Amino acid sequence: MHHFQHVDNELYAEDVPVRELAREYGTPLYVYSSATLRRHFRAYDSAFDKVRHITCFSVKCNSNLSLLQLLRREGAGADIVSGGELTKALEAGIAPDKIVFSGVGKKYWEMTFALRSGILMVNVESEQEMELLSRAAEHTGVPARMSLRINPDVDPGTHPYISTGLKKNKFGVAMERAPELYARAGDDPWLEPVGIDCHIGSQLTEISPFLESLERLKKLYAKLQEIGLSIDYLDLGGGLGITYREEDPPHPGELGEALSKALEDMDVTLILEPGRVIAGNAGILVTRALYTKDTELKHFTVVDAAMNDLIRPSYYGAYHRIDEVTPQERETIPMDVVGPICETGDFLAQDRELPRIEPGELLAVFSAGGYGFAMASQYNSRPRGAEVLVDGGRSRLIRGRETIEEMIAPEKRLLERE
Ligand code: LLP
Repeated sequence: MHHFQHVDNELYAEDVPVRELAREYGTPLYVYSSATLRRHFRAYDSAFDKVRHITCFSVKCNSNLSLLQLLRREGAGADIVSGGELTKALEAGIAPDKIVFSGVGKKYWEMTFALRSGILMVNVESEQEMELLSRAAEHTGVPARMSLRINPDVDPGTHPYISTGLKKNKFGVAMERAPELYARAGDDPWLEPVGIDCHIGSQLTEISPFLESLERLKKLYAKLQEIGLSIDYLDLGGGLGITYREEDPPHPGELGEALSKALEDMDVTLILEPGRVIAGNAGILVTRALYTKDTELKHFTVVDAAMNDLIRPSYYGAYHRIDEVTPQERETIPMDVVGPICETGDFLAQDRELPRIEPGELLAVFSAGGYGFAMASQYNSRPRGAEVLVDGGRSRLIRGRETIEEMIAPEKRLLERE
């Protein structure tokens, strides 16, 4: 459920006509709905009310400071994967003791930064990383609370690029190696192994892979208890899918119910790292049609948003619903909706049945609140778009449109003066 609905042939973001937002802020424009973000966060977080838990929003999904601040006010912590994300989470006021740090390639400065900031725990993904973390802890004088990210070898049944818990993936450490590494961490004066972590993938539409990996982690938990290590945190990552088209993922309530039940015999605080399920359907990308073009084989609608603004269709072959902002009665035809970038792979939709769009008209690309702006680039020297947050009848710019001057400044100031 989200708050982007047509009323009398006009698309609204909550109580604000999207057309007015496009007029005021220009396009391409990401529009987020506060009510949707709150609703999604509450639905997810309350699904786990039966167990002690922290819901750490996955910052990679959408790292806009105002959006993080909104979620922080709802009680969110943060799942981060870089020093940049840590800075943003802290800047948004998220309490350090609600921040967990994952990622296979943490650098030394990121570790010392995290330790000095007092984050809840570092999710270690390899033996070498564990050694470096110990040195970072010794150097800063702050013992490192850590978990090992376990690769449980469970198939999440999703796109291969976003499957992370299979043996062939780069993430985590194999279950078989884990007890030995935990024992070593336990003996290290600078490491405090307090958690077990895993994240098996993204856009999951079934509960069973979550349960399967939990079962495997439970076995490890028991083994660690046997060797005298007490584990306080169990981090199950994120990954719950959303409806882009016809997917029918379980409601967070169902996931919460199933996981809480499976956790009954464990005395741990559950950490959750949802991203997409909170932000994905809480945002749209608004774009304006520039031209239409008929070739022998295709009808193209060229719009002002491109793969640099929303890479998911080109990169994963992902489907994003596209709709007119002000729908009109007219015939539909199959078309490609494409951007101005000089790549054949630059499309937002292919062979999509849509009404004949005229130049100047506005289109809304749905489900663009997660991994939309967050994955945007400046390819083709296109400044990144603006972001707006709607709350009821009000809208607020939360990221100004990048200017060409801002875009070229890091190079321009280094030009040789001739
Ligand atoms: N925790 C960890 C350690 C992760 O790697 C991720 C996502 C999450 C949590 C959040 O997962 P979510 O709840 O959003 O599924 N760019 C891709 C998605 C990449 C996900 C990477 N990791 C896409 O657009 O589909």
